[in-house]
Amino acid sequence: MNQEDINQLGPDESYVVVLFGASGDLSRRKLLPGLLHLSAAGMIPELRIVGTSLDALDDKSFATFALDACKEFSSRKYNKEQLDKFASKLRFVPQEAGPEALALAVAACESELEGVPKRLHYLSVPPRAALKVVKTLDDADLVDRSRIIMEKPFGTDRRSAVALNTRLHETFREEQIFRIDHFLGKEAAQNILAFRFANGLFEPIWNRNFIDHVQIDVPETLSLGTRAAFYEATGAYRDMVVTHLFQILAFMAMEPPTALEPSSIIEEKNKVFRSMKPISPKNVVRGQYAGYLKEPGVAADSETETFVALKVEIDNWRWAGVPFYLRTGKRLAEGQRIISIAFHEPPKSMFPPGSGVGQKGPDHLTFDLADQSKMSLSFYGKRPGPGMKLDKLSLQFAMQDSELGGDVLEAYERLILDAMRGDQTLFTSAEGIERVWEVSAPLLENPPPVRPYGPGTWGPNAIHQLIAPHAWRLPFERDWRT
Ligand code: BG6
Repeated sequence: MNQEDINQLGPDESYVVVLFGASGDLSRRKLLPGLLHLSAAGMIPELRIVGTSLDALDDKSFATFALDACKEFSSRKYNKEQLDKFASKLRFVPQEAGPEALALAVAACESELEGVPKRLHYLSVPPRAALKVVKTLDDADLVDRSRIIMEKPFGTDRRSAVALNTRLHETFREEQIFRIDHFLGKEAAQNILAFRFANGLFEPIWNRNFIDHVQIDVPETLSLGTRAAFYEATGAYRDMVVTHLFQILAFMAMEPPTALEPSSIIEEKNKVFRSMKPISPKNVVRGQYAGYLKEPGVAADSETETFVALKVEIDNWRWAGVPFYLRTGKRLAEGQRIISIAFHEPPKSMFPPGSGVGQKGPDHLTFDLADQSKMSLSFYGKRPGPGMKLDKLSLQFAMQDSELGGDVLEAYERLILDAMRGDQTLFTSAEGIERVWEVSAPLLENPPPVRPYGPGTWGPNAIHQLIAPHAWRLPFERDWRT
């Protein structure tokens, strides 16, 4: 296939975005509002969006759909002029109209733009539909000058991921492929890299000599909403762990990259995945909330897990013997996204019995990956007054208090822009994704039974045995300071 090199192209150029699954949930909640923001803020100077999906919409009804979505889900306010301008950039082609109709719509959009516009194909479609879309793009001759964003889960196991990569590479080169993981687009996730590698203070203690264990905990209060068809075939492990939690783990555990550029960072992340031990089913708790089987669209005998907690081991010099505990699930007690690092306790205590030393667990460094990113370092200090009574104290930082909170791009906005710029730093490589499926094989082949848990709890009781002798940080004993 004759393709010109597009890696040199900068952001000040025109784009046609072809949005597959344009009338779906992700498009409504994140992609259309995100594209509106990037366009209204001038970050994509010239833009046309061709929506396509199985629904029988036309240009007008798609524009109405998009504006309603933006009004409902955008975190920012837009005036009528801005909304009308965005609506004028939207076109729609029903998927059943076929590749020729799509090609014509893209050509019409391109003829309205200056120069030679580039193309961004966003596949917001279920995994089983992805290759069909790739074929449509090939048949419509829309591969040239393009990049393609693929949604997760990328495959369902190693074999399917390898097959998907092989088929994709028949049409697109690896540098055109952007496997999105929106957790890496979150400001707080990227701040892990800044925190670790822009400071001399923390990196020296970032290893097995000082760190006892790590928790990556992402409980959600949400249930399935309208996503039963997707979720039934996916479950919490494939939906959240293989994608988001492992990616965060890689940022947390990787060696310093040789440069802040895509290939170095991707290489260091891949080394973490290579060092991961296969996930043993005995280190995994799967759960299903009571009532899941009655959700519309869920099979009466479904064994899909809506909760998963696991112990991950990274067998390298930095992390050997340091367990990483991961947890996520639906309909849990609280919505949180934290990384919590527990440090070793002092080897010996000179404090008298009853002083309180060690009583509230080890010192912790905690990152809150929520949109308002926060950090906290907890430690023992002396309680004022006579004698030597100790208490757990903390240093806390909240980005929003720092006057830097304003210009945050939402994760999808940031990642769409990066893909347009050809920057793969925050995306997943073929090798990385194949390896995480490979370490997942023992679990996927032999999953432990799903255990019931009550909605509004923290998961099945077995989570406590999994983490013993340690304890889950959540729920926090003390709230973040406001
Ligand atoms: C998505 C999962 O990728 O991430 C959802 O499919 C999950 O099940 C969501 O709720 C969580 O993302 P965020 O950014 O809302 O924490």
